[in-house]
Amino acid sequence: MDEHRVQYLKDLGITAWVRRERIHAKPATGATDAPHLGVNGSRENGIAVMGWSELEQAVTGCTACGLRAGCTQTVFGVGARQAEWMVIGEAPGADEDRQGEPFVGRAGQLLNSMLAAIGLQRGQVYIANILKCRPPGNRDPKPEEAALCRPFLQRQIALIRPKLILAVGRIAAQNLLNTDTPISRLRGRVHQLGGVPVVVTYHPAYLLRSPGEKRKAWTDLQFAIRTLNGGNG
Ligand code: URA
Repeated sequence: MDEHRVQYLKDLGITAWVRRERIHAKPATGATDAPHLGVNGSRENGIAVMGWSELEQAVTGCTACGLRAGCTQTVFGVGARQAEWMVIGEAPGADEDRQGEPFVGRAGQLLNSMLAAIGLQRGQVYIANILKCRPPGNRDPKPEEAALCRPFLQRQIALIRPKLILAVGRIAAQNLLNTDTPISRLRGRVHQLGGVPVVVTYHPAYLLRSPGEKRKAWTDLQFAIRTLNGGNG
């Protein structure tokens, strides 16, 4: 194991080994179908057929909910557009709002460490959020905001066709999976979103507040690797 990975695992509070050859093996069966796209109304229909640059422009110009008026800029998403892994969080915070990129603050640094611990560099995955605009004071997204923003994320998922979605945090998981099941019961299971397996773990901001839970997040990451390799169903 190289020095960097040992450091990343240390950041996670973990002493453990990952067998490298298990990480990028074959995809989970049935994981490559395009996710189901919402088709209610012309806005959704329009977004559902956009290419990357049109989609990016549509996000930049979106004023569908009230959030855009109160934030600095939209935060579209970042990373490899052919990524096998897609990480989905909640919404931009203050740092992300300033820089226009998801997960760039302290939580983002821990997310980078979590990814590095499983042999992934940030640039190898695609990172996006449920909301593209920062809610004031980092409050939770309102259901109507999440619903209006959803077609953008749906289109990103459809364009990327990831082999696995890692939902980080309760808000991301519950919104993506359209459920109010607690995160404790969403973890450790393979969910499906239009044929793409979804694995749930804790939000890195929560892990910063509750470092004792990092071990569980590590278990989730290993579970995600097994899922991607077709070992969980
Ligand atoms: N938290 C999130 O859920 N997303 C970000 O982009 C930053 C912090």
